[in-house]
Amino acid sequence: MSAPRQALARAPSNIALVKYWGKRDAELNLPAVGSLSITLDGLWTETQVCFQPQSHTDTFTLNGRAEPSKQARVSAALNLLCDIAQVDWCASVDSHNNFPTGAGLASSASGFAALVVAGAAALDLHLTPFELSVLARRCSGSAARSIFGGFVEWKRGELGDGSDSHAIPLIAPAEWPLRVVVAMTSQAEKPVGSTVGMNRSFCSSPFTTSWIEEQDADLDGARTAVLNHDFEALAEVSEHSCLKMHALAMTARPALLYWNAATVDCIQRARELRASGVAAFFTIDAGPQVKVICEPAVAVRVATALREIPGVVEVIECGLGDGASLLPLRTAACA
Ligand code: DP6
Repeated sequence: MSAPRQALARAPSNIALVKYWGKRDAELNLPAVGSLSITLDGLWTETQVCFQPQSHTDTFTLNGRAEPSKQARVSAALNLLCDIAQVDWCASVDSHNNFPTGAGLASSASGFAALVVAGAAALDLHLTPFELSVLARRCSGSAARSIFGGFVEWKRGELGDGSDSHAIPLIAPAEWPLRVVVAMTSQAEKPVGSTVGMNRSFCSSPFTTSWIEEQDADLDGARTAVLNHDFEALAEVSEHSCLKMHALAMTARPALLYWNAATVDCIQRARELRASGVAAFFTIDAGPQVKVICEPAVAVRVATALREIPGVVEVIECGLGDGASLLPLRTAACA
């Protein structure tokens, strides 16, 4: 195999509007349901991967610090790439997030998408975006969607090997440039991550069967709303999907409650705004942060309203952006 053995990639975070929650195959990380998301332009991970044929251990740093607890998942991702390249190499992986990690802002989506794109390039693999999306999915489901920009659908897929369970782009960010206002209500790492949370919900909530049965209708509704730029229809189905996902979590045994008091106040504020004619709706992932999606004309008003809520520690505003991409190397060193 020829050079290069190192590459740098940036991948954005994404937020699901129709949620992924539950797996049909934990080994291949296949989702029980399809999902639909928006890719963000303001929150991203940059990752440099450097394969070192002489080394016998992988190393992983995040924001300049070794992260032993995350090492196993990073090595599993590297092994998937090495299997395709038919090499038995180790790598050093150096990642930087420009936003809090593990706090419900989809850092695993941006992180694993960046790792897969950089790793595949470093190994000179020339994979298609769909193949990259499949690989990213193996590492963390939501990462499958961060390969693409704008509005993105991740197909549940039907094949046993998971090769048809990848994301596809629906419309580009510029076609419907909505804004996202994120109300941070805590910067702590969440106590129960998405993987454990969704598995627990899926196995023990009494609502799992109806969650699966209704997902196709929610996806059809959301996809049609996106293609028609129908804000009200997208708002309705997105809030419904979010609340159903959290209903599954709350009715798991033991129960999972990702919200705090400020989360609930942000939900109420978003609902009041929409009821008063402001084009804004909320969604929440496996954490206490509230993301309000809105038309650009009302973004300042939404941000101001969220900032006033006691317990909101920070408000971040971003737009929709492009998917993962390679960047020129910053450091030549592949020690
Ligand atoms: C609530 O993609 O983090 O954000 O596949 O186990 O790594 P794993 O889970 P992950 O779950 C994301 C869950 C969610 C909803 C979503 O992004 O669709």
